[in-house]
Amino acid sequence: MQILLTGGAGFIGSHTIIELHKAGHSVVVVDNLVNSSEVALQRVSEIIGAPVPFIKADVRDAAAMDTVFKQYKIDACIHFAGLKAVGESVAKPLEYYENNMNATFVLVDTMRKNGCKNIIFSSSATVYGNPAMIPITEDCPKGECTNPYGKTKSMLEEVLSDVQKADPEWNVVLLRYFNPIGAHQSGRIGENPNGIPNNLMPYITQTAVGIRKELGVFGNDYDTPDGTGVRDYIHVCDLAAGHVSALQAIEKKCGLAIYNLGTGHGYSVLDVVHAFEKVNGVKVPYSIKPRRAGDIATCYCNPAKAKAELGWEAKYGIEDMCRDSWNWQKNNPKGYEG
Ligand code: NAD
Ligand code: UFG
Repeated sequence: MQILLTGGAGFIGSHTIIELHKAGHSVVVVDNLVNSSEVALQRVSEIIGAPVPFIKADVRDAAAMDTVFKQYKIDACIHFAGLKAVGESVAKPLEYYENNMNATFVLVDTMRKNGCKNIIFSSSATVYGNPAMIPITEDCPKGECTNPYGKTKSMLEEVLSDVQKADPEWNVVLLRYFNPIGAHQSGRIGENPNGIPNNLMPYITQTAVGIRKELGVFGNDYDTPDGTGVRDYIHVCDLAAGHVSALQAIEKKCGLAIYNLGTGHGYSVLDVVHAFEKVNGVKVPYSIKPRRAGDIATCYCNPAKAKAELGWEAKYGIEDMCRDSWNWQKNNPKGYEG
């Protein structure tokens, strides 16, 4: 199939291009590079040994999007484009609602006008709020999101579900990602946050490489085995492969489908720090800090539905994730700028 990846220059999108290429799909990337670098696409092109067609455009630009659909015969879209920093979304709610909602409205409207009714949407475990059950299955009720970013994901799930309900020709796959970390084994592409990282793994790698003095562990008084927060970390290459499986569901006309993409294993902050130190032979200095506002104690999924219906399951373990994250960071201490 010919796949349009919005936000395809970003962390998850760039890794997904490689998996799509392996599976024999063609890709087109649209990205405004607000949180990414074109260098990532150049490197993906080197890895796959083929050019990656790229249009620098904002998904909110309806005319530009229409031109893309006129130029390429798009069979399905994977909609990664969006702003994703939780803290920033609290400070800039309007920018987050405006970008994430409008980009999706324009994309879906352009798809409809051009007769493409297949979409995979990057949703998040955040839609479960403080989850009503652990491990989380897809029928766990959605919860209260504490920040505008999470609310855009939850609302966009509703919007896309309603679009599919109104016109059953649509195939809509909502993928609820858990915590993607790791990097491609080549060490050529990886996560490249702007400024001080918000997420755990980039903070760990930047501490290990000496950019940050120490990791702050946000709370050790949670109701978890060691008191620190527990999450379902998933290797970004496993996550990328999940999109290829979701396309197979679309080819079989799945209608509306929702999947958790996680490993089903929960690791605490200190588990990750210790695994990282052990597998890479480097120290990660840390100190315990107060809890971060909005954080929950435990979040991990039951990924059985994706295995049963998509034949997808995560292959990589926490050691692989720590090794590959470090391989990327140590070879690219300044990300794509270095
Ligand atoms: P990312 O920031 O690396 O990639 C998103 C890309 O979208 C960037 O390249 C950015 O430049 C682009 N973009 C943003 N707004 C755009 C617009 N209006 N027009 C065109 N391009 C635009 O993030 P990522 O980690 O690769 O995440 C991809 C998707 O997955 C996002 O929707 C994110 O919310 C979602 N998600 C990410 C995580 C995570 O922890 N990384 C977890 C759950 C869900
Ligand atoms: N943590 C620290 N120190 C840090 C950063 C994080 O102790 O410097 C802890 C957090 O308190 C949490 C765990 O590490 O217990 C993971 O935190 P992340 O910020 O890496 O990830 P979150 O689970 O908070 O959220 C991430 C994305 C969300 C997404 C969610 C589920 O940021 O957008 O995963 O997919 F919704």
